Amino acid sequence: MKRRIRKAVFPVAGLGTRFLPATKTVPKEMLPIVDRPLIQYAVDEAIEAGCDTLIFVTNRYKHAVADYFDKAYELEDKLARAGKLEQLEMVRNPLPRNVRAVFVTQAEALGLGHAVLCARPVVGDEPFAVMLPDDLIWNRGDGALKQMADAAEASGSSMIAVQDVPRDQTGSYGIVATDDFTGREGRIRGMVEKPSPDDAPSTLAVVGRYVLDPRIFDLLESTDAGAGGEIQLTDAIARLLQDHPVSAYRFRGTRFDCGTHIGLIEATIRYALDHEKLSEAAATMMQSALDELGVREID
Ligand code: UTP
Repeated sequence: MKRRIRKAVFPVAGLGTRFLPATKTVPKEMLPIVDRPLIQYAVDEAIEAGCDTLIFVTNRYKHAVADYFDKAYELEDKLARAGKLEQLEMVRNPLPRNVRAVFVTQAEALGLGHAVLCARPVVGDEPFAVMLPDDLIWNRGDGALKQMADAAEASGSSMIAVQDVPRDQTGSYGIVATDDFTGREGRIRGMVEKPSPDDAPSTLAVVGRYVLDPRIFDLLESTDAGAGGEIQLTDAIARLLQDHPVSAYRFRGTRFDCGTHIGLIEATIRYALDHEKLSEAAATMMQSALDELGVREID
């Protein structure tokens, strides 16, 4: 599989129940971190990694995602007339010229594995990335997907991003069993969904970035519904690694689980504190909020 990935799949057809009621009308991927929606951060990371075809797996309720990457004639016209050129530039070219967005529909939310399978006709027979936009990864150097794409191109392995988690939290993640690591990579021997701390084969948790060999599609076709009645990507990967090298990749960067309330708050704080225009005001505001709470606690 020693080929560079060019295509990235964004499965965004989930129901986003953990963010109800907000996600009754706003897709989870459109929730903002400071000034940009989660999907924008993931798209930027994919483009930086060299992807020129972005495949969004959506459903009929998620017009907002497609609208976001489409032209907004009326808005652009108004901004141009008002001379708001900075804002105009922000909305005018959501994607670079050489990058195309393709939308495929997942008619029913039958699971992440099924969503990835829906992208098969567009991906075809080449290695590709899967990115879960609610896993937001912050890094000053190369983005996580670029790091993985470089490593996958060099070794020919499929790659799954992992990060160390405290042992008492293994029950919230997919956990991998690996050979010893060479640098940032270790070959995966097995995967377990949400094991208890005693049963976990390691503390390496799967994060929502994958570089996958196209053989995964045949395996997804023949994967039965697993946990929660959904077709799980993890189940198909567990079969893939029996006859194809799949590596865990410990990326450089900090991951925020923006699929949870606290993760979204944490990411907002971090990005605000790192923002060139907002950092000082954000720090002052956070400090005074903490001081105020401290006073209330003493009362
Ligand atoms: P999650 O497990 O986070 O589910 O899906 P969810 O529906 O988005 O959110 P909650 O748990 O109800 O709050 C992981 C990723 O897989 C996509 C989701 O959009 C998300 O990016 N997904 C999940 C699909 O595209 N289709 C599905 O059938 C299931």
